[in-house]
Amino acid sequence: QKHLLGIEPLHPDEITALLDVADRYVDLSRQPNKHSDALKGLTQINMFFENSTRTQSSFELAGKRLGADVMNMAMQASSIKKGETLIDTALTLNAMHPDLLVVRHPHSGAVDLLAQKVNCAVLNAGDGRHEHPTQALLDALTIRRAKGRLHRLNIAICGDIAHSRVARSNLMLLGKMENRVRLVGPPTLVPQQFREFGCEIYDDMAEGLKDVDVVMMLRLQKERMDGGFIPSEREYFYRYGLDADKLAHAKPDAIVMHPGPMNRGVEIDGTIADDINRSVIQEQVEMGVAVRMAAMDLLARNLRTDREANKGVMV
Ligand code: CP
Repeated sequence: QKHLLGIEPLHPDEITALLDVADRYVDLSRQPNKHSDALKGLTQINMFFENSTRTQSSFELAGKRLGADVMNMAMQASSIKKGETLIDTALTLNAMHPDLLVVRHPHSGAVDLLAQKVNCAVLNAGDGRHEHPTQALLDALTIRRAKGRLHRLNIAICGDIAHSRVARSNLMLLGKMENRVRLVGPPTLVPQQFREFGCEIYDDMAEGLKDVDVVMMLRLQKERMDGGFIPSEREYFYRYGLDADKLAHAKPDAIVMHPGPMNRGVEIDGTIADDINRSVIQEQVEMGVAVRMAAMDLLARNLRTDREANKGVMV
């Protein structure tokens, strides 16, 4: 692949290969010396048009651990604020010869559009409700390490599916790897068209969590509910927030996941989130750095191969 724009175009073998590389970067990241030269001499620019804690910091750390020159664009202070278009900003940065461009944007499809205009590798760090591929890959690595496999698992994705790029990317990835995925949440937040991904839909947590291996909770994404129905947080927690009673319906060794940022007492009880016997939320953060190292390493290898093949060719 030239870019990482989504899970949709990836073959299961490519997913497995990326996770294998990421496993090695988990080991490296646990060493006193965490550095490699995989991206030495390359320039990585991070452009985040939406807020981020985990994704932006882990992409920055990943690039630095691999020896890249990393620049974080301060989008609030950029010329976008003066009316410059996304494409003009991208072309301006492209003229500075970056090798890797990491982009988060509030509009679905914006990152794909940008990738068509630049001649470097583009990584989607989340675009609107569309995709968040590195989140799904880090979730996959977390599951594979916790469960010892990434196939034939029963996985429940719970909460605000309608507004979630995390849910879409996970649905595609987990489906490609032959898992059974259930969506659980209020009908207003779990559109029936998601059945096209081959999943079952439940509006009752007890039924939806019955005997699952993995419980993946999602945040209510109020910032995307423009004018639509917003449930009361108290009622939402009562019916759909993960607490010990609801989790008791899952398998006794089921793991609990959350991509963050997490709203304690809304979609998840704080004691469940902090229960080190069930929750793998901190492991997800650790896997995030390793998966982003792997994704950039593999894209950089392809970039170097392409450039070598095109040496001396006028384009
Ligand atoms: N999971 C995730 O994308 O978190 P951030 O918004 O903090 O990057």
